[in-house]
Amino acid sequence: MSGFKKKIFAVFVSGIGSNLQAIIDAVENGIIKGKIGIVVSDKPNCKALECSRLANIKTFAFEPKKFSSRKEYEILIADECEKAGCEFIVLAGYMRLLSPWFVAQYKNRIINIHPSLLPNFPGTHAIQDAIEAGAKMTGCTVHFVDEGIDTGSIIAQREVVISNDDDLDSLTEKIHLAEHELYPKIVNLLCCNKIEKRQLQTLACVRKF
Ligand code: GAR
Repeated sequence: MSGFKKKIFAVFVSGIGSNLQAIIDAVENGIIKGKIGIVVSDKPNCKALECSRLANIKTFAFEPKKFSSRKEYEILIADECEKAGCEFIVLAGYMRLLSPWFVAQYKNRIINIHPSLLPNFPGTHAIQDAIEAGAKMTGCTVHFVDEGIDTGSIIAQREVVISNDDDLDSLTEKIHLAEHELYPKIVNLLCCNKIEKRQLQTLACVRKF
């Protein structure tokens, strides 16, 4: 038996869950040498939760409006992640800002994927914003999460060319394909202890993914 102990992580979702599904597939076929301990969602009826249930992964869903404060539900989330043994958190289309308190609980242990080449086009309409700006190139970015909106240190990026005939749907599809290739690789690097924030400056190789 090998002495390698698989890292357990949480995935947070709000929407369709295509990135979650890519991560589930990568765990199943051994590309990610780690385990999803829990899937957390602020949208109890989202499609992403169906993916996790189908894969028999524990889920925790909550409705923010039923709580009197963000801290109240974030304490519950942190409890659930701890009970599931999660060492880090992967945001995969989780469209809710985490509080400074929560970010501090998982300092340098939360990553996010964003559908642009940050620092260009932060925020919730990144793909549309790139089209409206007439950009010729966009892509996706994996970054650490800090207290800001899409401001944490960048781990890796992948470029996507915007063609003249691209619309929101076609560009979203192209970016999703890039995300599904990039994100599982970076999640695996975290599982294998290959990324630490203080090493980022020297991790130029990571950016090639
Ligand atoms: C992804 O494109 C991800 O980059 C984006 O939400 C989508 C989720 O899709 N995240 C953000 O915009 C975060 N600022 P999915 O539910 O199919 O994985």
